[in-house]
Amino acid sequence: MTDQTSTVGEERDYDEYRVIQDLGGWKRSHHCNQLTSANLGEEVTLMGWVQFRRDHGGLIFIDLRDREGLTQTVFSPEVAPEAHERAHAIRIEYVCALRGIVRARPEGMANPGMATGEIEVYVTDWKLLNTSDTPPFPIEDRVDAAEMLRLKYRYLDLRRPRLAKNLILRNKAAQSVRRYLDGLGFLEIETPVLTKSTPEGARDFLVPSRMSQGMFYALPQSPQIFKQLLMVSGLDRYFQIVKCFRDEDLRADRQPEFTQIDIEMSFPDEEQVMGMAEGLVRTLFSETIGAQLPASFPRMTYKQAMDEYGSDKPDVRFELRLADVKDIFAGGGFKVFANAPCLKAMRVPGGLELSRKEIDDYTEFVKIYGAQGLAWIKVKEDGEWQSPIVKFFSDDEKAKLAERLGMVPGDIVFFQAAPEDVTNASLGNLRLKVGERFGLIDEKAFAPLWVTDFPLLEYDAEDKRWVAKHHPFTSPQPGQMDTIASDPAGALARAYDLVLNGSEIGGGSIRIHTPAAQKAMFQALGIADDEAEEKFGFLIEALKFGAPPHGGIAFGLDRIIMILTGAKSIRDVIAFPKTQKATCLMTDAPNVVAKKQLRELGIALREKPQDAPAAEQTHEKKNEA
Ligand code: AMO
Ligand code: AMP
Repeated sequence: MTDQTSTVGEERDYDEYRVIQDLGGWKRSHHCNQLTSANLGEEVTLMGWVQFRRDHGGLIFIDLRDREGLTQTVFSPEVAPEAHERAHAIRIEYVCALRGIVRARPEGMANPGMATGEIEVYVTDWKLLNTSDTPPFPIEDRVDAAEMLRLKYRYLDLRRPRLAKNLILRNKAAQSVRRYLDGLGFLEIETPVLTKSTPEGARDFLVPSRMSQGMFYALPQSPQIFKQLLMVSGLDRYFQIVKCFRDEDLRADRQPEFTQIDIEMSFPDEEQVMGMAEGLVRTLFSETIGAQLPASFPRMTYKQAMDEYGSDKPDVRFELRLADVKDIFAGGGFKVFANAPCLKAMRVPGGLELSRKEIDDYTEFVKIYGAQGLAWIKVKEDGEWQSPIVKFFSDDEKAKLAERLGMVPGDIVFFQAAPEDVTNASLGNLRLKVGERFGLIDEKAFAPLWVTDFPLLEYDAEDKRWVAKHHPFTSPQPGQMDTIASDPAGALARAYDLVLNGSEIGGGSIRIHTPAAQKAMFQALGIADDEAEEKFGFLIEALKFGAPPHGGIAFGLDRIIMILTGAKSIRDVIAFPKTQKATCLMTDAPNVVAKKQLRELGIALREKPQDAPAAEQTHEKKNEA
C-alpha cells in the first residue's frame, strides 16, 4: 500500500494529513484496561479509539478505549510539546497509537470505579491511525438512540462496552461448553446447512437449486435427523454449536437464525442425558459468571406445571400458584363461573393495594391471551370481601373458596373462566406480571427446572389432526406405543425441557430407534407411508441397519447468554441480529436479486398484487432504482 502522506497537499485537512498507513514498527504493549500502579514508570504503547477528549488549558486529556476498557492519557506541553501541539486535532472515535509513561494520578484524582483508575499515561509520542466521522450516536452505555439506528450501524453499537462484554462472555461460554463436552468424549461434528426440511414444525427457509431447477434445499431448523444418523454410524457421542433457521414470528427471545448447543448420545436413558446436561449448565454458569447452580435440578411434570403455573416453562423463582376452583362453582349462581370449561384462581398476597387502574390494566393485559374479562376479590383489612362478583356467590361457595386458597386480609384473588388454554395463558402470564409488580422475583437467583412427562401429541385445531408435540422421532413412554392410536391425548413422551428463570433454554428426548416403532408413530400422526417415505425415508431406512438406542438434547445458546448477561433482548447477545421483521438493517437483507440470477435458477416472480403491503412496494422501488 502506498503511503498517502507523500501525496497529500497543503490544502488537505490537518488530521487527515497525519493519518498513517502503517504502524511504523510500533507494537501494542498493553490493552486499555490493563495498566495499574504496578506499571508506574513503564513506557507503554496503547492503541484504540478516542472515547473522550478534554482540553484543560495547557493539558489535553484523552480517554482511549478498546474492547477491554479505558485508559486516561495526558498530553502536556511541558512533557512533549510536539505531541501536545498535534493533539489539538484529535476528535471522538479517532483511532490512535499513543506512547508514553505510566504515572500515578494526582492526589484525590484516582477513580476507584475504573480498573485503570489509579494511573494515567503521559504521552511522549503518538500516531493518528485513522480519523472518524462523527458517529450517528454516542458510543457509550447510556445511549438512548433508537434501536433501528443502532442496528444500521451495528459495528459502532458493538463498540459500546455493554454489547462488547456480551460477546466476550458468549465466547467464554462457547469455550466452556466445548471443554466440558470434549472431556466427556463428545465429538464436534458439522452437519449440512443446505439440506432437506427437518421436523421441528416451524416454517422452513428455502434455497432454490440452480443445478436441479424447480427444487429447493431447506435450511435446517435443527440438525435433528443428522445427529440421529451419526448415532446409527456408531459415532456414539456428538455435539455441535450450530446455527438453526426457523421462519416464525419473532419475539424478545426468538430469532430466525439462532444457535443451538446440539447434543446426541448412544445407549442413554433420560437420567444420563439429563445428568450430562445439568453438568454442562452448572459448569457453564460457574466458568462464565462464577454462579453456583444447585447440585441437582428440581423436576416437575408438564401436568403440574400447567395446572399450577399455567405454563410449560414456569418461573419458579417465586411462589404464586394457580388453583383449580371449577368444582366449587359448578352449577352455581354466577353463570360465567358455573359454565366455564376451566376456572382457575390466583391469590396474590398484598394485592389489596392494587388500584382500580392497575386492575383495569391487568384486565386489558389478559385479553391478549383471549380472556373475556378478569374477575377479582379483594380481602380488606377487616376481612370483608370487596368485588364486583361476590354478590353472585353462595355462602357455601365463599367458605370453600376461602379455605381452598387460604385467603387472608390484604389479598387479592384473580379469576379466569375460559377454555383451558386461555385460562392458563392469561393467569400464567398475569402471574409473571404480578410477580414483577410486587418485587417477588429475585433477579439475582437462578432457578433451573426440568419439565418432564410431556404429552407425546397435541391437537392442531387448524389442521384438525394430531401432531408431535416435540418432534415425530420422540419415543413414547414404555408401554404406550400400542395405545397412541386409541388414546392420542393420553400418551406421554420420553421428553424433557430445561427451564431457567421461566425461559425454555433446552429440550430433548429419548428417540424412537426401531423402524416398526417409527412407522407406528407416523401412522398415529396421520402421515401416510408415502409421505413418511418422501420426507424421512432416509431416516427410516437407516433405522433398519442396527440403530442403537439414542437420545439427546439441544440448548438455545442465545437464551442462555441472555440469562448470563441479564440482556433483555436476544438481539443484545448476537453480533449481527435481525429485526422483529427478520431483516438486517445494516446489510439490507433480504433484498431483490438481479433478473439474471433468477433466470439461472429457473424462477419467475409472480406479479405483485396492486394492494401489496408497504414493505413490498419499497422493494419494487429498489428494483427500479
Ligand atoms: P427445540 O425446538 O426445543 O428442540 O429447540 C431447542 C432449543 O433451542 C432454543 N430455540 C430458540 N432460540 C432462539 N430463537 C428461536 N427461534 C428458537 N427456537 C428454539 C430454545 C429451545 O429450547 N432438535 C430438537 C432438540 C432435540 O430433540 O434434541 C430441537 O431443536 O432454547
Ligand atoms: P360481567 O358479569 O361481564 O359484568 O363481569 C363481572 C366481572 O367478571 C368483571 O370483573 C369481568 O372482568 C369478570 N369476567 C367476565 N368474564 C370473565 C371470565 N371469562 N373470566 C373471568 N372473569 C370474567
